[in-house]
Amino acid sequence: MTAKSILVGATGASGFPVLIRVLELIQRDPAWSAGLILTEEAKLTLAQETDLTVEGLCGLADRVYDSGDLGAGPASGSFENAGMVIVPCSMKTLAGIHAGYAENLLLRAADVTIKEQRPLVLGVRECPLSPIHLRNMQELSMIPGVHITPLMMNFYTRPKTLDEMVTQVACRLLTPFGISPGKFRRWDGMQCNQT
Ligand SMILES: Cc1cc2nc3c(=O)[nH]c(=O)nc-3n(C[C@H](O)[C@H](O)[C@H](O)COP(=O)(O)O)c2cc1C
Repeated sequence: MTAKSILVGATGASGFPVLIRVLELIQRDPAWSAGLILTEEAKLTLAQETDLTVEGLCGLADRVYDSGDLGAGPASGSFENAGMVIVPCSMKTLAGIHAGYAENLLLRAADVTIKEQRPLVLGVRECPLSPIHLRNMQELSMIPGVHITPLMMNFYTRPKTLDEMVTQVACRLLTPFGISPGKFRRWDGMQCNQT
């Protein structure tokens, strides 16, 4: 069986522990493989939020693309790919997607994902949100296949550790692709089950 490919984009917003968990969950699923695109600012925030090097992060992906390489596969609609998740997604990149301003490979890949009508999951993160951020999210959310999935925690699953919370947020981002890791706690009536 050939693994299906998912594109993972990361920008300079806060949320790198969630990105790492997303890549780990894809890596653990033999049905899926990940291609990673990091913006230059993503590399700065990675260093602020984790002890992982850029090389260490890239080691969690099956393929890595340079965000300046607009000739790479993900720049084309004919590139075989099931969809894209951007985590964390900055307000700058959100605005770029909203405007169709494809100035780097990550933005171009998101633009292509929308035009090809594949799932595009945006793990947006900013606090508080301005009317500009909210407008961009609202308008993008109207496009079929676009999922605005903020990096928001929940408490009804009674997480005992930050690690559990990070896993739950990461699982949410992968749900639209049908990737359902065993650690995802789903609500089932009055209790939360692990799938
Ligand atoms: C430590 C750190 C945390 C940041 N967190 C956020 C954030 O949560 N959301 C956001 O929109 N921008 C955040 N930024 C600012 C973005 O990195 C900045 O807007 C950058 O230009 C985004 O570029 P990119 O979308 O091309 O990666 C943060 C910057 C730093 C240094």
